[in-house]
Amino acid sequence: MKKATRETQLRKISEEIEACVQCREGKLGRAVAGEGSAYAEIAFIGEAPGKEEAKVGRPFIGRSGKFLRSMIREIGLEEKEVFITSPVKYLPRRGTPTRADITHGRGHLFQQLAVVDPKIIVLMGKIASRAVLDREVSVSQEHGEIIKEGDKAYLITFHPAAAMRFPKIRKEFTDDFRKLKGLLTKKKPR
Ligand code: URA
Repeated sequence: MKKATRETQLRKISEEIEACVQCREGKLGRAVAGEGSAYAEIAFIGEAPGKEEAKVGRPFIGRSGKFLRSMIREIGLEEKEVFITSPVKYLPRRGTPTRADITHGRGHLFQQLAVVDPKIIVLMGKIASRAVLDREVSVSQEHGEIIKEGDKAYLITFHPAAAMRFPKIRKEFTDDFRKLKGLLTKKKPR
């Protein structure tokens, strides 16, 4: 039998997320599975959808999302060539996801990453870092580090919402994106 295309595989995972009773427990609004290229070299991982995202069903379209998307463009990428998602796929009723939300959501996230197979994974904040690396991370101490594991490179940075709020964090976030740009030009000459 012919293997399903990556797009079809991703769509199937999105449908599973939309139908997932556990994902929805204690949450609000629409499912936000993620979006972007099924062949992305780089994936950006956040925390959980906010109100705007839960209304529309798309990731990072609110204030912090607009900021993230402008930073993505600033390093020479197009939004449609990256993959953007979060470990938690619904808006948590209390804003912050619980440990159980993260543990459950990472299952869906890992399925998505297995399909897209990005070479660079940007972990934006403590929750993204914990979900993917399965350990506690001090973002202020570890941000900007490139962690190489197998054929993947992980870059820990701040969540864009924190970068928008605090000028010092914004500067560090911008520096981390500069590093990311360095990684990209090494990988794909333009
Ligand atoms: N913040 C996130 O972490 N994810 C979103 O999709 C939106 C805001």
